[in-house]
Amino acid sequence: MNWDEQVALVTGASSGIGLEMARQLADAGAQVFASARREQRLAQLAAEFPAGRITPLVADLAEAGAGARLVKQVLDAAGRLDLLVNNAGYGELVKADEQTTEAVARQMQVNFMAVIEATLAAIPTMKSQGGGRILNVASIVGHMGLPGIAAYVASKHALQGWSEASGYDLREHGIAVTCLCPGGTATEFDDHPSFDRHDGVSSFTQPAATVARAGLRGAWKRKPLVIPGLRNRFFLWAHDRLPWLYRRIMYREARRIAPRD
Ligand SMILES: NC(=O)c1ccc[n+]([C@@H]2O[C@H](COP(=O)([O-])OP(=O)(O)OC[C@H]3O[C@@H](n4cnc5c(N)ncnc54)[C@H](OP(=O)(O)O)[C@@H]3O)[C@@H](O)[C@H]2O)c1
Repeated sequence: MNWDEQVALVTGASSGIGLEMARQLADAGAQVFASARREQRLAQLAAEFPAGRITPLVADLAEAGAGARLVKQVLDAAGRLDLLVNNAGYGELVKADEQTTEAVARQMQVNFMAVIEATLAAIPTMKSQGGGRILNVASIVGHMGLPGIAAYVASKHALQGWSEASGYDLREHGIAVTCLCPGGTATEFDDHPSFDRHDGVSSFTQPAATVARAGLRGAWKRKPLVIPGLRNRFFLWAHDRLPWLYRRIMYREARRIAPRD
């Protein structure tokens, strides 16, 4: 991997996988634009590196149009964009029968629509500069269902499908789309209070830095799909090949989610 002098935008860079990706890219000499809502966290990240290596960009991707505005800010500042990392995302543990349309729409906005906005804003420049890379952070649940997070699962299925299909369209322009599908990863993802309703969340996790490295390596090699970790690949295999067993386990998992207060 040689990210030296490459211009990268990483969303969700204030914690977890995005934070590690921003660090790894900056370590490798890239000019990184790091975005999230928590300004203080981004300032701390920027302070780890020489001035100008990481530029914080505060944005709330729940606002329609924020993804496109972010890319425009990068292009205004740097004049090019070599790597777009659409990583920001969140989930809430809410059973399907307790969902509201507003909460589902918000997750779709942050986890999916903001990706589309940023991607469509980046494509003309990537085309004119002769190519680029887009790294979308979906999830293993972009390939399967899990109880309690139907809205999140739907957003990641959408992102996984968009990533594969847009990759076919963009290849002739030298633009590679990589979909990173992590399983449980040690980040702040489960800190959302709704996850307290399940006693067994994240029994197995990979370090965020490991997942970040796997995603960046896949993007560098222009791989369409990266599923980090043998255990996650086995999980996907079991879902596809042993659906009866998978469903039995998931019905049991659904019962382990505590009733709503
Ligand atoms: N952890 C896992 O087990 C796991 C598994 C599979 C996939 N993923 C995916 O990996 C990606 C990164 O998550 P993570 O695990 O690293 O969790 P994390 O530590 O909670 O990081 C999530 C990042 O997204 C940002 N974000 C959330 N809502 C946002 C909003 N409205 N506007 C802008 N930024 C927002 C957060 O920043 P601010 O709060 O500062 O805005 C934070 O930087 C997500 O897309 C997640 O779905 C995670």
